[in-house]
Amino acid sequence: MTEPRDIETQDEDTTPKGQFLDLHRHLPSTAFVLLLLLSLAAFGGAFVYAGVYNIGADEPHSKLVYNTLDKFRERAIKHHARDIVLPADFGDAKRIATGAGLYSEMCADCHLGPGVDKSEMSQGLYPPAPELARGINHTPAEMFWIIKHGIKLSAMPAWGKTHDDELIWDMVAFARALPKMSPEQYQAALASAPAGHDEMMKAMPGMAGMSGMKDSEAGKPTPSGHSHAKGSKPHAD
Ligand code: HEC
Repeated sequence: MTEPRDIETQDEDTTPKGQFLDLHRHLPSTAFVLLLLLSLAAFGGAFVYAGVYNIGADEPHSKLVYNTLDKFRERAIKHHARDIVLPADFGDAKRIATGAGLYSEMCADCHLGPGVDKSEMSQGLYPPAPELARGINHTPAEMFWIIKHGIKLSAMPAWGKTHDDELIWDMVAFARALPKMSPEQYQAALASAPAGHDEMMKAMPGMAGMSGMKDSEAGKPTPSGHSHAKGSKPHAD
């Protein structure tokens, strides 16, 4: 039985084609691979259908699931933010002032701030909302994308549904300033921020006297509770 095979192998070894066939012999057959894939898919399907995965936010993912999702999210953010260009006036101090008001109104409950105690909301979030004051892991363009579009299956909302790109850049500018702020500077920034959304619109260059402003001043807010500049710049993505 073994003799003819040995001879065959020797024959094969003398040619490159033979080497390939020899290697092929050590690989699992196509049928085996297909069966394996099918049973994995069936197992996966049964796992999903049975509903046994704990989707509750009060128990963390396993390390494997966490790392996989983390990579998935970070690659997606990088890819989608690749063409976003910063506005020329990104460093303007006015952006930080306007961003401060927006941040305290819309972000601080989840993302906290320098010297800010954990909120009931922030403690219940999973994935947790990173404390931006402790450090920034993304470029300004990536932050812009995250803030504008939100992140699926997390509590991070898509603020672009209700805010134009200019206001989102204000939020990015303020968020990036957070790690350098002391608790006192943070409180001072919030205190000196324009009072409400309408005030923030006034603080933006070229916004005074626009028809959107008149509507909101006349007590006719847009469905989101505030008006936005009609002449705002086209979206970056
Ligand atoms: C209801 C809670 C909630 C609110 C409100 C919220 N966020 Fe988030 N945010 C999250 C969560 C949760 C994440 C993490 C998502 C993830 O890890 O997938 C996140 C992620 C982010 C990130 C990415 C941070 C990082 O290092 O990965 C930025 C930037 C951000 N949010 C900015 C903002 C800004 C600016 C606002 C206000 C305009 C805001 N968020 C409001 C919950 C919130």
